[in-house]
Amino acid sequence: MEEKVEWKKAHYAFKSRWDRTDDDMCRHSMSFFLHKTIRSDFFSSYLFLLEQLPLVKLFALTSEVINGEMQFYSRARRFYEEVPATEEGMMGDFLELNSIDVEASSVFLRKLVGGPGKADTKYALDCGCGIGRVTRYVLLPVFSCVDVVDMMDNFLFEALSYIGKDVTKVKDYFCVALQDFTPPIKKYDVIWIQWVTGHLTDKDLVEFLIRCKCGLKDDGVIIIKDNIGRQGCILDQTDSSVIREIEILRKIIAKADLEIICAEKQLNIPEQLVPVWMLALK
Ligand SMILES: C[S@@+](CC[C@H](N)C(=O)[O-])C[C@H]1O[C@@H](n2cnc3c(N)ncnc32)[C@H](O)[C@@H]1O
Repeated sequence: MEEKVEWKKAHYAFKSRWDRTDDDMCRHSMSFFLHKTIRSDFFSSYLFLLEQLPLVKLFALTSEVINGEMQFYSRARRFYEEVPATEEGMMGDFLELNSIDVEASSVFLRKLVGGPGKADTKYALDCGCGIGRVTRYVLLPVFSCVDVVDMMDNFLFEALSYIGKDVTKVKDYFCVALQDFTPPIKKYDVIWIQWVTGHLTDKDLVEFLIRCKCGLKDDGVIIIKDNIGRQGCILDQTDSSVIREIEILRKIIAKADLEIICAEKQLNIPEQLVPVWMLALK
């Protein structure tokens, strides 16, 4: 009798959330089985929503579903454990785009630094730096010092040799996930975030951008360069990342109380690939 009351309580507790909640599941309400089912159901519906809806609608969900978030992040980590610490690995096998990417980034960056009211060229931070491709080709030719941050220690280790002669200008190597990273206050003229925003949930991306804003000097600027979906939001199961359409990213940026001061589409990206955009934020 007491057992029946217990499962009825569970039934009513979950009734409004899951249509599939049934007598059978509730009878085992205290069991591992129910716990596991709820967890995996929740995560599948989270992933389903992720594919179907603009991510901004999911703030509540991404922050509530801790296990979901953990899977999203741990899958990405597992993916990068298999990625070689090479330019090809950083470019997702599109090595031929390296020079196109670097050239456009350098032109974009030069519009934003070195002049009245523009960012200074003393100190930059490269977020999700990998082996330091952006640091080597885009940031070090412009800045006196660069700090780098990535969650994978083997990439950072490779950066020590890959970056080459200017490696002495790379000061701090932060080995930490961006969702857990706080840039030092007011240290940077430019914070560069390339091909990594999709690895953060909406909520973590908003919060990370807010922390980045605090890491900027007065005329500092944040630069995001990333794949931008043509419509909605696509979950890439392979590397556990999301590709957001520009409107979704705009909302996330606005939520972080930042303004887009310059936006350019990367030219010469083959039609069959996802468009890439560069956004400067203040
Ligand atoms: C596609 S690579 C791009 C590397 C570099 N930005 C470039 O353009 O060459 C993505 C990088 O982001 C890093 N990354 C992925 N998720 C991350 C996270 N949550 N926190 C920090 N780094 C992350 C990976 O380890 C990898 O180095």
